[in-house]
Amino acid sequence: MRSLIDILDFTVEEVNELIATANDIIDNPDKYCERCKRKKLATLFFEPSTRTRLSFEAAMIELGGSVIGFSAANNSSAAKGESVADTAKTISCYADIIAMRHPKEGAPLVAAQNATIPVINAGDGGHNHPTQTLTDLLTINREKGGFENLTVGFCGDLKFGRTVHSLITALSRYSGINVVLISPDELKLPSYIKKDVLKKNGIPYKQTTDLESVMPELDILYMTRVQRERFFNEEDYLRLKDSYILEPKKLVNAKKDLCIMHPLPRVNEISVAVDDDPRACYFKQVLYGKYIRMALILKLLEEAEK
Ligand code: NCD
Repeated sequence: MRSLIDILDFTVEEVNELIATANDIIDNPDKYCERCKRKKLATLFFEPSTRTRLSFEAAMIELGGSVIGFSAANNSSAAKGESVADTAKTISCYADIIAMRHPKEGAPLVAAQNATIPVINAGDGGHNHPTQTLTDLLTINREKGGFENLTVGFCGDLKFGRTVHSLITALSRYSGINVVLISPDELKLPSYIKKDVLKKNGIPYKQTTDLESVMPELDILYMTRVQRERFFNEEDYLRLKDSYILEPKKLVNAKKDLCIMHPLPRVNEISVAVDDDPRACYFKQVLYGKYIRMALILKLLEEAEK
């Protein structure tokens, strides 16, 4: 059974196909409005979510299917001690496809190993978030026309930010990518990603604590929230949470065609005054998330029927 647990589960060609389908859905929504008739998506969210869960639900509804699920662990039998494996076996009796978010790294993989239907990782702890990455790739593709020869700055919580981990992994398969890692010392990209992804693929990268000094080089600036829920103590969070606040004055030396992205939710890291800048892409990114998830549901359901 084909699932999506890690972005590398799909080849570059498959990612390109998903992007092509999403673009076709944007242009011809009516063509797709009954494609998932009588199919059910189960959204199993053991952690909070607005965009990921609701975009999956909107995606399935726009494909003509329906949605069941829960939006918090305490609304499910997990609160009674049920294992992820048993939950996955149970939901396989009711639904055709699962989107799961869980605070524990690897939980969606365990679900996929036990389900008899496709499982989509909708975020597992501080590890991965492959459907945000598909969203980000569709955004980059539409804004930049491709993935080659881009200097991409990642700013904020690079330690716990799972969207950063998955996007760096995805971008490491394209040529001419340069990565700039901008974070406080305490929130640097984990060394396993530097070693297994950046160094292994020969991706040039540099690390800095100073956003403004690297701003003129960037084609893409990927801002992130400091991940409060993954900190061991509140004091550290309070000290680090406002490390970077993007304001219009910090963009004066940025490229005219910079693409500013953020997986959202934002807390303080992008001032609302930036929202009107034509380079701000984060709300377009939200919309693209629904279309790429439509393409993903279609692909996994088609493969399950083979
Ligand atoms: C991200 C996540 O859940 O990792 N949000 C999202 O899915 N768009 C980023 C975050 O919560 O900071």
